[in-house]
Amino acid sequence: MSQRIQVFDTTLRDGEQVPGCQLTTEEKVVVAKELEALGVDVIEAGFPISSPGDFRSVVEICKAVTEPTICGLTRAVEKDIEVAADALKWAKRPRIHTGIGSSDVHIQHKFNSTREQILERAVAAVKYAKKFVEDVEFFAEDSGRADLQFLAKLTEAVIGAGATVVNLPDTTGYLLPDQMYDRISYLFENVSNIHRATISMHCHNDLGLATANTLAGIRAGARQVEVTINGIGERAGNTSLEEVAMALKVHKDLGFETGIDSRRLYPMSKLVSEMMRMSVQPNKAIVGRNAFAHSSGIHQDGHLKNASNYEIITPEEVGVPQSEIILTARSGRAALRHRLQLLGFQFEKLDLDRLYDRFLLMADERKMIHDRDLMELVG
Ligand code: KIV
Ligand code: ZN
Repeated sequence: MSQRIQVFDTTLRDGEQVPGCQLTTEEKVVVAKELEALGVDVIEAGFPISSPGDFRSVVEICKAVTEPTICGLTRAVEKDIEVAADALKWAKRPRIHTGIGSSDVHIQHKFNSTREQILERAVAAVKYAKKFVEDVEFFAEDSGRADLQFLAKLTEAVIGAGATVVNLPDTTGYLLPDQMYDRISYLFENVSNIHRATISMHCHNDLGLATANTLAGIRAGARQVEVTINGIGERAGNTSLEEVAMALKVHKDLGFETGIDSRRLYPMSKLVSEMMRMSVQPNKAIVGRNAFAHSSGIHQDGHLKNASNYEIITPEEVGVPQSEIILTARSGRAALRHRLQLLGFQFEKLDLDRLYDRFLLMADERKMIHDRDLMELVG
């Protein structure tokens, strides 16, 4: 029996903070409905106190979406919490996500405070949020760099105050996967009430390790992942939803599952990329243009013999129409023959050999060979 991992999508909050990615309320509602269809468990709809537009977006998402929990972000500030509660009034399942910095860097240089005062503010914020909603998530910002004993104390205190979820963000994308595993394991061993709350992973990708760190956190006991479509987010981005969902699906033997309908991943990626005017890097795992494209002769030959030689996921599984064989000067005869067959041409070996020599000359010159080039070649 697999254990269910809750997928908390923050495309519309952490993702939307990226310069140039801002969406209108109407666009956000479209994305939220698609996230619901994709099967996410929680949608972080915005930061209601940040602007009247964000407040309205949270309200409209609460009205338009019924299945997932709708979450609003706040600082550990009473006014923020009141405004978020007000925006979330329309939600069937509202959640307030409140929190404060937990590393000494943040405590000293951002809050000009002490660990003791931070702990008091954290507990007070959770208790205050509980007056409005049952489901309160606490985030310990920059927990990746926090003193571990202090983090354990803070986690225990906010769970004691009623937090249903404790989010342990690696805000600066600092940790390595083994460190993440050890730190989360430490908390499971040292926080007496930890089983009363869900532990959540929220990783940033500054070292390109957000997905690896998220998976390490799950192996250590976390049961919620905070992710964005295409991994968009501050600086190098957040953990990418599609990567975590597919890693858990491909490695079912680990014993975890999500509610994500993987066939919707590629259409969802395209929608977010188009709406946010943020292109997806071609070699992006799962949803990049080249994720199912084969271009070297050895790979193409192997792929044409059996797709599983070079694909661990079928394109259909993630909603990509089909794999692609790209013809370049690195392609072999098998790929050329395959493409010609699709265009309705059959060649005997000798003729194919001759054509292949001319194909290579053309490919060296034109880099990529398209069907119109092949038509010219066949003459
Ligand atoms: O990265 C972070 O710490 C955050 C929190 C506000 C949850 O986005
Ligand atoms: Zn973040």
